[in-house]
Amino acid sequence: MLILGIFAYQHDASACLIENGKLLSFVEEERLNRERHSAAFPELSIKYLLKQHNKTLDDINYITICWKPGLEIISNFINVLKNFPKSLNLIKAGATQNEISLTSRLKKQLNLKEQFKKLGFKLNKKTKIIEIEHHIGHAASAFLVSKFEESAIMTWDGRGENTSVLLSKGTGNKITKLKEIKIPESLGIFYSAITTYVGFKLFDEGKTMGLSAFGTDKYLKDFDDIIYKCENTFKVNQKYFNYMTHGRNKYLSDIFINKFGPPRKYNDKITQHYMDIAYAAQKKLEEIGIHLIRYLKKICPSENLCITGGVALNCIMNQKIHETNLFKNIFIQPIASDAGTSIGGAYYLYNSILNYKRNYEFKNIYLGPSYSEAEIEEYILNKKLKYSKPENLFLETAKILSEGKIIGWFQDKMEGGPRALGNRSILADPRNDNIKERLNSIVKKRESYRPFAPAVLSEDKNRYFKMNYDSDYMILSADVIEDKKKTIPAVTHIDGTARVQTVKKDINFKFWSLINEFKNLTGTPILLNTSFNENEPIVCHPNEAIECFLRTDLDFLILQNFIVKK
Ligand SMILES: [Fe+2]
Repeated sequence: MLILGIFAYQHDASACLIENGKLLSFVEEERLNRERHSAAFPELSIKYLLKQHNKTLDDINYITICWKPGLEIISNFINVLKNFPKSLNLIKAGATQNEISLTSRLKKQLNLKEQFKKLGFKLNKKTKIIEIEHHIGHAASAFLVSKFEESAIMTWDGRGENTSVLLSKGTGNKITKLKEIKIPESLGIFYSAITTYVGFKLFDEGKTMGLSAFGTDKYLKDFDDIIYKCENTFKVNQKYFNYMTHGRNKYLSDIFINKFGPPRKYNDKITQHYMDIAYAAQKKLEEIGIHLIRYLKKICPSENLCITGGVALNCIMNQKIHETNLFKNIFIQPIASDAGTSIGGAYYLYNSILNYKRNYEFKNIYLGPSYSEAEIEEYILNKKLKYSKPENLFLETAKILSEGKIIGWFQDKMEGGPRALGNRSILADPRNDNIKERLNSIVKKRESYRPFAPAVLSEDKNRYFKMNYDSDYMILSADVIEDKKKTIPAVTHIDGTARVQTVKKDINFKFWSLINEFKNLTGTPILLNTSFNENEPIVCHPNEAIECFLRTDLDFLILQNFIVKK
C-alpha cells in the first residue's frame, strides 16, 4: 500500500510517501524550488520522492491532501454575506494566499486531478485522491505517529477551511473531535496580525516571539479587550481587526491603529513601543493557550498530549504548557506547520479510514534529500575549492569551533520542518558572546535581538537547563540554570531562556559525536546551532551550501567528510 501525501497551493507545500504505514521520505517544496514557504503544487517534491524510492505514479494507490475546498467555500460564502460589501476585498490577490487569488486557488484545489495532468503527471485510473479536513490532518500528523495508544490532541493554527482550533481525542487508530473553534476566533491570525504591526512579514511570527522578551507589560491591560478568555473558548474582538473582510492585505482595523499608533515599517528602528506590543501579544497567546489546554484536560483526562499546527511553533508557549504539569507525556509534532499535514493526511487515510494498525513512530526527522560522498566531492572540485578529508572529522571540526570559527555543517539527509537540527546547520562556540554579533552581521544578516539556539548532548541537558523533558526538535524553550547563563551567553536569550535541541546518540550519531568532541576539548557539551541559509530556505543541495559559504564570511564548510576552506 503506497500513499502519496501532499499539501498544495497554500503556504508550506510539501509531499511525503508512506509504504505499508512506514514513512519513507518527506520534503517541503521550498527546499527544492528555493521559494520560502512555497505555495506551489509540490511538483519537485513528488518527482524527488518517486525517483528516490524507485517508484512511478502507477505504484501509488492513494493521494491525500488535507484541505476540503468545498468546506472552505461554504464558510467563505457565509462570511462574504455577513460582511458584505467590505468582504469583497477578500477576492483580491494576496488576501488569502500569496499572489494567487482566492478563486484561482480554490479552482485548482477543486480540480486536483486536472492539475496533476497539466504538470505531466499521468495518474493511474485506479489512483484515488482523498481530501481530508485540515485540522484532522494536523491531529493525525501528531497522534498517529506518536508513541501513545491514547492521547488528548490540540491543533491550532491561523485557520483551516473554517476551524482554527481543534480539541480531539486519539484512541488506537481513531481520532474523535471534541470541540472546534472556528474563525473569526483564531490565535494564529491574531498573532500574525500583531506580527505585521510590529513590522515583520508573514511567517515571521518567531521574530515577534523573540522580540516579546524585551517588552514590558505596558499594554497588557489594553490587550484584555482585544483577545480574551470565555468559558471553554476565547474571543478575538473584531473591532480591532479587518481580516474577515480584507484577509492578509489588512489585518488590523483603524480602531487598532488609532489606539496604538502606526505600524512599524520593515526597516524602521524597533522602539520600546513595538517590543511592548509584542510582549502583550505573547502573554495573551500564552494565557489563552493554557486556558484551552486546561479545558482539553477536563474533557479528555489523558496523561498524554499531542500538539501541532502553526501556533505550536511558539516554543515559549510550549514551555508554558509543559510547566502546567497537566500532562505527563507531551509530543509536539516538529513539522507543525501546514507542511506536516501531508504526513497527517497519509496516516489518517492508512490508519483511520482504511483501518490498518498503527506501526510507525516518528523519531527521525531526517527524511529529506541526501547526496553521496562522490557527488559532493565533484561539486567541490567543480568550484575549484581547497579541501581536506581528515581522519577524525569530529575532532578536527571541534578544534575549529573551539578556536572561535563559524562553520557550515552539511551531513546526510536533510531535516524536515522549520528548524535545522544538525544536518544543514551553521555552528559556532556558544561560550563566546561576540560570536552572536559576528554571526548576525556577516552570515545571517538578521536582527540582533533574535536568540540563537543551543544544541546540547541529551545526557547533559540538566547541567545547563531546567527541563524534565527532551526537546529533540528545538520546538521547546527552557530556562537556563542561573550560574550557567554566563558560560553560554551566545545562546541565552535576554529573558534567561533558550530554545534547546537535545541531541541523542541513537538519533543523530554524527551531530552527537561532534558535540561530544567539543565537550572533550572545552568541557561544554553544547554548540550554537542555527539554520544553514541566508535569507532563503535552508540549503538542501551541496551546491547551495557552497554558494552560501562563498557569498558569506563563514570560516569553514564541512560537507559530509570534507573540510572546505575559502
Ligand atoms: Fe494549518
